[in-house]
Amino acid sequence: ETIPLEMHKVRIVQKLNLVPIERRLGAIAEAGNNTFLLRNRDIYLDMLTDSGVNAMSDRQLAAMMEADDSYAGSETFTRLETRIQDLFGMEYFLPVHQGRAAENIIARVFVRPGTIVPMNYHFTTTKAHIVLNGGSVEEIIVDEGLQVSSDVPFKGNMDVGKLQQLIDTHGAERIAFVRIETGTNLIGGQPHSLQNLREVREVCDRHGLMLVFDASLLADNLWFIKTREPACRDMSIREITRAIADLADIIYFSARKLGCARGGGICTRSQDAFLKMRELITLYEGFLTYGGMSIREIEALAVGLEETMDETMISQGPQFIAYMVEDLARRSVPVITPPGGLGCHLDAMRFLPHLPQAEYPAGALASALYLVSGVRGMERGSLSEQRGPDGSETFSNMELLRLAMPRRVFTLSQVKYAIDRIDWLYRNRDLVGGLRFVEEPKVLRFFFGRLQPT
Ligand code: F0G
Repeated sequence: ETIPLEMHKVRIVQKLNLVPIERRLGAIAEAGNNTFLLRNRDIYLDMLTDSGVNAMSDRQLAAMMEADDSYAGSETFTRLETRIQDLFGMEYFLPVHQGRAAENIIARVFVRPGTIVPMNYHFTTTKAHIVLNGGSVEEIIVDEGLQVSSDVPFKGNMDVGKLQQLIDTHGAERIAFVRIETGTNLIGGQPHSLQNLREVREVCDRHGLMLVFDASLLADNLWFIKTREPACRDMSIREITRAIADLADIIYFSARKLGCARGGGICTRSQDAFLKMRELITLYEGFLTYGGMSIREIEALAVGLEETMDETMISQGPQFIAYMVEDLARRSVPVITPPGGLGCHLDAMRFLPHLPQAEYPAGALASALYLVSGVRGMERGSLSEQRGPDGSETFSNMELLRLAMPRRVFTLSQVKYAIDRIDWLYRNRDLVGGLRFVEEPKVLRFFFGRLQPT
C-alpha cells in the first residue's frame, strides 16, 4: 500500500466529539434516518461533502486581513479578476454567491423552452436550473462512466459519437450549449481527459455550439490529467489549466469547492456573453465587484486559485481518497473504482444486496454507517431523485453512499478509523434493513425528508 503524506501541518484545530453509540442511536432517530438532519455535535467525521469545508491556508487567512472593502471598485476584486485572466486567459469575470447562482444566470441567458443541454453527466442544481427554464438535459457520458468497478482512467469523458448523434437528430439550433462537468460529481468524482475535451470542442466548432465548463471540481481533475494522461505528463498544472480553458467558451465554478470556502464565478472571453450575463448579476447577486461574496472571501479565493496550481496541494484529495478506496477494495468492500476525486463512494447495491431500490439501500447504508461509527456520509441514489408526475419512483443509475474527503481536513488515522468501521459494517451487513418515507417533501426530498425502518 502507498501511504499518502500530508504536505502541510496543522496549526489551528477544532475539537471533535465521538459520542457513545446510545446517543448516536438517539441522534439518527431524531434525524429521521436522514444524515442531512444530524447535528454536528453528534458527528465524529463529517464526510457529507467537500463543499465549504476544505481547509484554508495560512496565506489565505493572511490575505483576508488585507481585503479592500467597498461597494464598487475594490482592489480585492481587481486582484481576483487579474488572477482569473492570468490562469484561464479569459478577459471577463462575473462574481456570484455560489455555484448554483452561476447556473441560474447561465440557464436564464442561454436556455430557451424546448432546448437541449447535452452534458457528460448532470449535477442536481444544474439540471434543476435548466429544467426551470424550459430546457432538458441529455446525459451522454461514455458507457464505462456508469460501470461501478472499472480500471478506465477517465470515466467522466463525454461520448463524442453520442454528441454528434444528438445534433444529427435534433439539429444544432435546438442545442442551448454543451456542458462538461470536470471531476464528474454524481458518478463518483470521475475525471475527463484533456484529449476528450479537445474532441468535444471539435464537434462544437463544426456546429457553432458553445462549450460551457463546470470547473467546481477542477483541482482533482487537473491532478488526474497530470498523472493518468500520458500525453500530459510533462505539462505543468498551470499549462494543463490553460489548455482546458482555451477549449471552453464559458467557465463557471463553485468556489465552495474550488479555491475558497464560499462564492463562485463565471468567466468568459466573449464580450457578447459577458454583457448578456452582466445584467443578471446586478439583479440576483450584487454589484459587479462582489456578486454576493464577502470581500474577504474574494481575497482568499484569489490566493486559493493560485494555490490550486501547486501539485502538493491538489494531490492531497485524490491521494487520501485512493488510500481509502484501495484499502476497502482489498477487503472486498464494494467501492467505485478507479478512485476518483471528491470522496470515496460505496456501492450500496452490492453492499446491501438484500435491499431493493424501493427501500433506498444508499440511504439505509448512510444511516447504518453513522450509527456504527459517527461518520456522516451523503446518500447519492434514488432518495436524491424526484418522483415522476404519476408519483412513481425514479430509480437512479447507481445507489451510492458518498464519503467526501474535504481537502487537507482529516488525518490518515481518521481515514483508517472510517475504513475499519466500514469493514465491520460490511461483515455485518445482514443487520441493515431498508427505509421508507414518513415525511416526503415534493422538491429536493433528500434534504428534509424523514424516514423509518421498513
Ligand atoms: N456544480 C458541481 C459539479 C457541484 O458539485 C456543485 C455543488 C455545484 C455545481 C453547485 O455549487 O453548491 O456552490 O451552489 N456541489 C455540492 C456537493 C453541493 O456537495 O457536491 P454550489
